[in-house]
Formats: sequence, C-alpha cells, structure tokens
Amino acid sequence: VTPAPPVATVSVWDAPLRLFHWLLAAAVTAAFLSAIEGNPLSPWHQAAGWVAAVLIVFRVVWGFVGGEHARFADFLGFKGLGKHLSHLARGRAEPSLGHNPLGALAIVGLLGLAVAAIVSGASIAGGGEDELHETAAFALLALVGVHVIAVVVMSLRSGENLMRAMVTGRKPAALHPGARDARRAPAVALAMAVIVAGAAAYGVTRIDPNAFGPHAESEAGEGHGQDGDRD
Ligand code: HEM
Ligand code: HEM
Repeated sequence: VTPAPPVATVSVWDAPLRLFHWLLAAAVTAAFLSAIEGNPLSPWHQAAGWVAAVLIVFRVVWGFVGGEHARFADFLGFKGLGKHLSHLARGRAEPSLGHNPLGALAIVGLLGLAVAAIVSGASIAGGGEDELHETAAFALLALVGVHVIAVVVMSLRSGENLMRAMVTGRKPAALHPGARDARRAPAVALAMAVIVAGAAAYGVTRIDPNAFGPHAESEAGEGHGQDGDRD
C-alpha cells in the first residue's frame, strides 16, 4: 500500500503572530484567575496585566511590519463585512484565508478592551476608579467568551478547524482554491517588533518598578475594601 499523500496546506499565520496569540490568551487568563479572591496567583495579577500590555505593543508593531495576514492593512478595511453577514444570516460561512471580516472586528474589540483593562488597572494605584477597571475587565471576559464560541461555530460551519490553524499556522489548500502561502515578514521586522516591545517593557518598569514581580496580596484579588478607602 502506498501511504496517503500529505494534505496540501497553505501557510496563513506566521509564528510570531501565533506565539503572540497564545501568550496573550495565557496572560489574560492569568489576569482573571489572579483576580479571584484567595487564588494563589493573586500576587501576580499586575504582572499578568503588564505582560499582556507588552504583548499588545508587539502586536501593534507586527500589524505594520509582520507577515501578510498579520498586517492591519490585510484585514482592517472590513472589506466584505456586509457580504459575510448576509451569508451568515443564511447559515452559510465561507472559509476565509486570513481573518474574516467579523473576526477583524473581534480583534479590534479584544485588543481595545484589553488596553482599557490595563490602563484602568494601572491607574488604580494612582487613585483611579476601580469600577472602571472592573467594567473593562468583565467586558473583555464577555468578548473572549463570544470569541471562543465564534471560533467553534465558524469552524463547524466552514468545515475548517480554525483553532488548529492558529496552532500550526496552516490551512488546508482544498478549502482555499488558488491560495498561495502568505508573504512572510522581512527579517528585520521581528527584530524591530521585539526591540519596541522590549522598550515598552522597560517603560512599564518606569511606571511600576516591580511590574513583573509579585505584588502584595492586598493590592488585587481580594475584592474591594470599604468604600472610600482610596480617596
Ligand atoms: C483570553 C483568551 C483569548 C484572547 C484574549 C484572544 C485574543 C485573540 C486575538 C487578539 C486574536 C487576533 C489575532 C491577531 O492578532 O491577528 C485572536 C484570534 C484567534 N483566536 Fe483567540 N483569544 C483568546 C482565546 C482563544 C481560544 C481559547 C481559542 C481557541 C478556541 C482562540 C482561537 C483563535 C483563533 C482561531 C483566531 C483566529 C481567528 C481567525 O481565523 O480570524 N482564541 N484571538
Ligand atoms: C488584561 C488585563 C487585566 C485584567 C483582565 C484584569 C482583571 C481584573 C479583575 C477581574 C479584577 C477584579 C475586579 C473586582 O472585582 O474588583 C481586577 C482587580 C484589580 N486589578 Fe486588574 N486586570 C488586568 C490588568 C491589571 C493591571 C495591568 C493592573 C495594575 C498594574 C491591575 C490592577 C488591579 C488592581 C489593583 C485590582 C484590585 C482592585 C480592587 O479590588 O480595588 N489589573 N483586575
């Protein structure tokens, strides 16, 4: 018997984008877990948030210099959003090679709410409203829920395992006739993005010298003190 030929695939997501995605998911998950009262991760709440911040800085740079489907110009025009929605309304979902138009909206929402959570969280120490932080965090949690459900539903409807694509970076060629491998980022792009993210990490330590270390338990993760304890 001859072994089955390997399934032809096209490359879609570059490695830095995939690494960014799963590290961000881990950092945001850690931020949530550590916000739960009495969780052993509690001292690491701020650090998880700051790591998410540095990752997002990396992603923004990568959106300009990264591989083809990582670039904002590739998906932020929301081209075909109307068509995509009307197809979805009729129960159809055409597989897209890069981010689909709704996915693009979700990215803006996920990154935007993560930034809102980080900025509002960081300003608590300076007397910022913690309600603002809570609201941003829970809006982010809700959108993450929608995001994961959407990935599952779209995978079932389009017959394409999107989560696997975010792991391997590749999609089956059969579902994308005529598609070619994504244009790769130039070699200097990664160096640039890493340097900017490194500078951001340094900047973060200027705001919070202990940003990436454990913080005192009482600072996060144990709900609110009495009203008026922070004015
Ligand atoms: C806290 C958890 C998560 C966050 C904050 C998050 C955030 C994001 C962001 C920002 C993107 C856009 C990627 C880009 O930068 O271009 C994205 C895409 C994606 N995420 Fe997540 N994600 C999370 C969890 C997950 C999980 C658990 C899965 C697996 C089920 C998943 C699967 C995907 C897939 C498949 C895409 C690509 C979507 C597409 O094909 O357009 N994500 N996610
Ligand atoms: C992805 C980023 C983040 C998420 C998802 C997140 C989420 C949360 C959540 C859910 C809570 C509990 C809210 C409550 O019930 O009171 C919380 C509390 C807190 N967070 Fe964050 N956070 C993030 C980033 C940050 C950052 C970067 C900082 C500071 C540098 C920070 C500082 C705090 C503090 C001080 C509290 C305690 C507030 C209080 O209870 O008075 N967070 N965060």
